[in-house]
Amino acid sequence: MARLTVNDRPVEFDMDPQTPLLWALRDGANLTGTKYGCGNGDCGACMVLVDGAALRACLITLAECEGRYVTTIEGLSRDRSHPVQQAMVAEQAIQCGFCTPGIVIAAAALLKANPSPGEAEIKVAIPNLCRCGVYPRLVRAIDRAARVARREETISAAPAPGIPASAAARKVPALAPAPTSAPAPSGAGSAPPKN
Ligand code: FES
Ligand code: FES
Repeated sequence: MARLTVNDRPVEFDMDPQTPLLWALRDGANLTGTKYGCGNGDCGACMVLVDGAALRACLITLAECEGRYVTTIEGLSRDRSHPVQQAMVAEQAIQCGFCTPGIVIAAAALLKANPSPGEAEIKVAIPNLCRCGVYPRLVRAIDRAARVARREETISAAPAPGIPASAAARKVPALAPAPTSAPAPSGAGSAPPKN
């Protein structure tokens, strides 16, 4: 049993504490936005925020996440309004759904730590592998996201989500708003009320 906070919700995972966080999120909490790429820490597809740092969820166990605060791509923003998400769309830097969640998470962590990263800093902070070669666009997108986050620019090009948040929550129970009496995420343990 491991207790942690996932996307603002306290969750108990009734799983082997040595289970990689990646599988707890995907199989236990149905948060499938976090992707399995290599399983070895090479690709970055599984990146999530753990206490604000972008970590590879395939390399960290549930036991190591005990008491920590995890944010997945589903919890970064409920309406895709995060500057990185907006800029990735505006710069057409989204190529495949497998790499993008981890890239967005890594970029969000970068901008939190460094609001004005230079190109070299962006390249170092985004170790994610991408076979389609989207890297130049990524640099442009993250640079633009930084400007948006600094309120030097706004983006209006990014489309709204294709389905309303309530419909998304039905498909992904762990996305339901932090509740007083909502059911626990599928496969996960009980989700006690938030204190
Ligand atoms: S699946 Fe975790 S780094 Fe590739
Ligand atoms: S974004 Fe997935 S291979 Fe390039």
